[in-house]
Amino acid sequence: MKYHVLTLFPEMIENGMKTSITGRAIEEGKIFLDSVNIRDYAFNKHNKVDDYPYGGGAGMVMQAEPVYLAYKSVSEHMDKKPKVIYLTPQGSVFSQKMAEELAVEDELVFLCGHYEGIDERVIEEIVTDNVSIGDYVLTGGELPAMVMMDAISRLVPGVLNNEHSAEFESFQDNLLEYPQYSRPEVWREKRVPQVLMSGHHANIERWRRQQSILRTKERRPELLKDADLDDADKLFLKSI
Ligand code: ADE
Repeated sequence: MKYHVLTLFPEMIENGMKTSITGRAIEEGKIFLDSVNIRDYAFNKHNKVDDYPYGGGAGMVMQAEPVYLAYKSVSEHMDKKPKVIYLTPQGSVFSQKMAEELAVEDELVFLCGHYEGIDERVIEEIVTDNVSIGDYVLTGGELPAMVMMDAISRLVPGVLNNEHSAEFESFQDNLLEYPQYSRPEVWREKRVPQVLMSGHHANIERWRRQQSILRTKERRPELLKDADLDDADKLFLKSI
């Protein structure tokens, strides 16, 4: 997977992505990060990339041409038009399902806006997907782009150590993850659930499944209608 991020703050993207699991994945060549500074494509001697909005109003607007040239610098090396994701609170809300769909692409372009937005004409020209990470307004698209790249990267084969660990986690099947425990067996008088100490794998599996269902019902009941429940799961759900 190769990410191209068009941004005014490439150091923010690089610092954010070069730590922890995504950092290791970059070092190991499982994912590639190309952050493109839109300011490098400014077309005036002051390196200015924004201007006042036509029609008046507060704030500045990122101009079309530097964004377009930054995009062209990336797309000219590609055989087909890539997906270009514009991070905006006006987009479709990002989800695990969207992460799964995007994880199969070879390359993705993220366009990060700042100020009051980007000249609409270049958005119309290059953007294929408008995506929001939730109903709140951030100062720019960099954090949302990093949120998306993080969620997508962990679905790229080889990025997580354990090939299975992405499968069983929250949202993968519309159920929340069951609780986890580690040593010591008793911590401040709180004991690890006995079934986990039993070594009885079938019982442990069943307990974990039931905890997932219970948690989902308590914390995110709206997810249950799309969860893949078998007869035993449904019986358990009825009993709680
Ligand atoms: N830019 C500003 N706020 C945003 C949000 N919530 N999601 C995506 N991009 C944004």
